[in-house]
Amino acid sequence: MIVSRRQFLEAASAMPAAAMIGSAMSARSPDLRTEHARLRRQLEDLSQFGRPAGGAFRDGVSRIGFSEADVSARAYVMRIMRESGLAPSIDPAGNIFARREGIQPGLPSILFGSHIDSVPNGGNFDGPLGSLAAIEVVRVLDAHDVRTQHPLEVVVWANEEGVAYGKPLFGSRATAGQLFEGELDEVWNGVRKADAVRAIGGDPDRITAARRAEASFHCYIELHIEQGGTLDRTQIPVGIVEGIVTIDRYEATVTGLANHAGTTAMTDRRDALVAASHLTLAVNEIVRDQAGRHVGTVGRQDVVPNAPNVVPGVVRQTIELRDLSSATLVRLAAAIRERARHIADLTGCEIAITPLSHNEGAAASPAVRRVIGDAAERLALSSHSLPSGAGHDAQSMASLGPIGMIFVPSVGGISHSPQELTSWEHCGIGADVLLQAVLGADVSDIRA
Ligand code: HGY
Ligand code: MN
Ligand code: MN
Repeated sequence: MIVSRRQFLEAASAMPAAAMIGSAMSARSPDLRTEHARLRRQLEDLSQFGRPAGGAFRDGVSRIGFSEADVSARAYVMRIMRESGLAPSIDPAGNIFARREGIQPGLPSILFGSHIDSVPNGGNFDGPLGSLAAIEVVRVLDAHDVRTQHPLEVVVWANEEGVAYGKPLFGSRATAGQLFEGELDEVWNGVRKADAVRAIGGDPDRITAARRAEASFHCYIELHIEQGGTLDRTQIPVGIVEGIVTIDRYEATVTGLANHAGTTAMTDRRDALVAASHLTLAVNEIVRDQAGRHVGTVGRQDVVPNAPNVVPGVVRQTIELRDLSSATLVRLAAAIRERARHIADLTGCEIAITPLSHNEGAAASPAVRRVIGDAAERLALSSHSLPSGAGHDAQSMASLGPIGMIFVPSVGGISHSPQELTSWEHCGIGADVLLQAVLGADVSDIRA
């Protein structure tokens, strides 16, 4: 339920003077704007960490979670936090938090932020926009001496993309108590996950201390690029996310028989890559055959021994399925397993499909969606409600309390690519909507 300005000022009249001044200040802040030029400069600076050697901004970044580039980028972001009057701390999972006290410290905080790790050859905006805009919001409130009722907490989540270790949303899942059994013992590129977490300042031995209780925050708001083409196509600057898809990831291990590429007759082969190729096409065909917005991707494939003169013996590949409906994903997975059995018979290979990760989808809180819609309206910006086909830390946080996401357009709908681009104007608009949404949430009674 959103309180009207009259109701709000009536309530304010009952508040002690300090509280009233602060609240009246935040109520009087519809004219507050973030500094777009500063935000642009920081996005350009941040993009240097993980930039290809000799590259430029347009060449994007490879800033894999836990990598050196990630560690340097985290140090940069914490410096910006300090310059903005914040005192960042790193939680046991490696998430970076920074808190700004409110007039009523006993109130749950308004939590907002995003991530800064990327996919390989990724873009400059996926994550950094929401992370740097969150810091900018606090900086502007400080500069104008606006004190909110609720404490504010800025967060930069660790290893959101999950390229390292293969499971997305690591940091926010640790906060939500959703880590998988034995996850910290997994090894990737020869490093145990617990050691990678330690290397970015986390404390894996106390990982449970990263957990937040349900209802421990007033709401969580994330600004993010859309990564799809809806807003760009419709020329609408602000997206209000309705919900975030469920993401199911599997690993398919295809086992044939490695053999000599010159002396093994075609009829005698058990070629794992031929079988894996059938499986890849089958995933695409099964997903496309069913009407709906669901998607399926084979994005990573490792061939063993991966030599031109050896019939491939083993192929390991991911199968990733996404949809707003988990039931749809269960149905698609069953159809893919069924087809895999036929492919195994056809090729003489074995095909094992094992679950890698499940990230439950999440609906945005209607109250937070209204707060975002009101913020866009106060800024005289048109907005559009839409689902998110991309996964986000917000879906981890949805298990603890009310969440909402603000989207801004991705040019051509391109993302997870150096060509990922959001105009500087839309970056600034997104930051201003985030600022107004935080102020709106501060004076709103938000129930999930
Ligand atoms: O993979 C995703 O959907 C997100 O960009 N992490
Ligand atoms: Mn992202
Ligand atoms: Mn991403």
